[in-house]
Formats: sequence, C-alpha cells, structure tokens
Amino acid sequence: MGFNLAILISGRGSNMLNIIEACNNKTLSSKVKIVISNNKNSSVLTKVEKKGIKTKIILENQINKFEKKLSQTLHEEKINFVCLAGFMRILSKGFLCNWEKKIINIHPSILPAFKGLNAVKKALEKKVKYTGCTIHYVDKGVDTGEIIDQRIVKVLKTDNEERLAKKILKEEHILYIKVIELLEKKYNYGKDR
Ligand code: GAR
Repeated sequence: MGFNLAILISGRGSNMLNIIEACNNKTLSSKVKIVISNNKNSSVLTKVEKKGIKTKIILENQINKFEKKLSQTLHEEKINFVCLAGFMRILSKGFLCNWEKKIINIHPSILPAFKGLNAVKKALEKKVKYTGCTIHYVDKGVDTGEIIDQRIVKVLKTDNEERLAKKILKEEHILYIKVIELLEKKYNYGKDR
C-alpha cells in the first residue's frame, strides 16, 4: 500500500526526515525504501540508517554516470515514486522521460517567481510582501514543472534571509506531507486501496 518512495537529498535533509516520520506514524501510506544523497558529507544519513532505512551516496560528476547509478538503484529497490528534497542537481530529459509525473520537487518560493538558487534571498531583494513554497512535478527545466500545490508566507520588515527561510521551511514540511497524501489518493495508492 502507498508508494515505494526514494528521497533524493544534497544537504540537511529536514524535509526528508519529516517524510520518513509521516510514513512511520502512518499519516502517509507510503514507505521510504531508500534515501539517496549526492553529497559525501551527508551526516544526516546516519540518522536515517538508525531508523532502519537504506541510504546510498552517489558521487558522479558526469550526469549520465550519475543517472545510470541512480536508475539502477531505483530499479533494485522497486521504487515507483521519487521525492526531491533539497536535491541540488538537474536531472536530464533522457532520465526524466522514464519518470514522467513520478518525480516531485519542493522549492522555497511561489513559483514561477524566483526559480533556481537563492530563492529566499531573491524574494527579499525584490521586497515581495508574500513568498512561500511550491511542490511541482520535475521536468527538464529548472523549477518549471507543473505546479501541484503551494503555501504562502508573509514577509515581515524584520525578516532576514535566515528568519524567512525558517518560516518557509515550516510550511514546506506541512506542504510535502499534504501533497504526497494527495498523490497517494490520485494514483490510487492511498490507505483505502
Ligand atoms: C528547502 O528549503 C528546499 O525548498 C530547498 O532546499 C532546502 C532543503 O532543506 N530546495 C531548493 O532550493 C531546490 N531548488 P532540507 O534539506 O532541510 O529539506
């Protein structure tokens, strides 16, 4: 029941840990089968392993080599849905065509505003009154895929990048679970199947 999930990360992994928690406490029907990182310094992976979840670090500069190893791992683990959570690499069209509408990403802005790196900083520089986070399907562009859902955060005069990023992250954690739940139902992978 639920998806066989793989979560791809590059850093801190707070969204990833939050998804694992929601699967473990049955808020979600899915199972996190593996967490894959492209960063050899992912200390958060030790935490994941302690929870009995497999981890893998894939270090390949060339995207085709990276994707070959990634495909193999996803296949071995019988993954049918992939969540990008702070994963900072662009996947190629060739790879993505096998995973259409099966890979989602979270981004710390109200897309299509502030795509790419430093989204929180860019929002502050533009003096927007509201920003937030978006979950979208991953396509070959950078943060251009079809939007699934968003949450709004009000920007206060007292906000700096760190404070605003923290407020957005809190909403990201809520949004990610809400969206996976929605997609479990949509793909008929929900609790009542
Ligand atoms: C999150 O804010 C996520 O939206 C952002 O990286 C952070 C990862 O935090 N992703 C991007 O900027 C992708 N373009 P986490 O590792 O604690 O989940």
